[in-house]
Amino acid sequence: MFSFVRLEISNGRKRPLSAKCHSERSEESLCTMRSLASFGMTKGRFRPSMILNIMKFRLKTKENKSKSLWGKGDKDTLKLLNKIRIQGKWLNLAAGDGRYNLNLLKNADLVIASDIDKRVLNKLWRNTPSKYRSKLQIKVFDLTQKSPFKSDYFDGIFCTGILHLVPRKILPKILREMNRVLNKNGKIIIDFATDIKRISFDGKFITIGKEPLYKLQEARKVLRKLFNNYKVKIYESAVKDEIVQAANSYKFSFKFIILVADKNK
Ligand SMILES: C[S@@+](CC[C@H](N)C(=O)[O-])C[C@H]1O[C@@H](n2cnc3c(N)ncnc32)[C@H](O)[C@@H]1O
Repeated sequence: MFSFVRLEISNGRKRPLSAKCHSERSEESLCTMRSLASFGMTKGRFRPSMILNIMKFRLKTKENKSKSLWGKGDKDTLKLLNKIRIQGKWLNLAAGDGRYNLNLLKNADLVIASDIDKRVLNKLWRNTPSKYRSKLQIKVFDLTQKSPFKSDYFDGIFCTGILHLVPRKILPKILREMNRVLNKNGKIIIDFATDIKRISFDGKFITIGKEPLYKLQEARKVLRKLFNNYKVKIYESAVKDEIVQAANSYKFSFKFIILVADKNK
């Protein structure tokens, strides 16, 4: 899949960030640009208030209308979703266009797919078979802010492709909010990329904005601390030397944590 992304910051200063990508697991071109931008990380210091108003994304892409912008999904995550008992009400947080959403919907009674970007949620809705739509809701909100749900509402929260990009000091706030809306027997499934290396073909190390760039051990520690009231299982995998076709193409490697946390220890 090849896509072209242009990011525009609507405060008068246009700042295009473009990338073409073809990658199953890569959060690189599309999502990194979007996510970092949504955290204000592409233009200096993070200010939550920047998120909703000053960022405007425009996808100029020959986007495949039925396929996810982020590929088919990570095989280990898909395996886990097949193995784990999904039931009751689930929140798919920062769901994007929903590459994992059907896996939740097939077994849950209700899935609320949320994202800051309404267009990806509209795509998720369109691509959901009509027989599942009666148990699907979409909701636009910023995951760094208080969510519009009452406490103890969900039986499960699923959140992939985003938390490793959140500034370190914002992460606990997001986790507190997840904890608030999750009921006492609830489950959280997240993924978290670490040891991210982007090496350009002329040998330069590329970083994007002020992404936190966790190492595996550090991420394990951070996650253990954040979930210290949960029963946690951590699964690890890695991706090596994936080629990302961007304006300046590069080799992309990263490690990968999938964390399953049960609130009821
Ligand atoms: C890499 S995509 C992952 C999408 C999906 N979870 C998946 O794994 O396919 C990251 C998603 O996070 C969303 N996002 C970025 N910042 C956000 C924020 N502050 N609040 C809610 N969603 C956000 C983006 O719009 C994008 O859809």
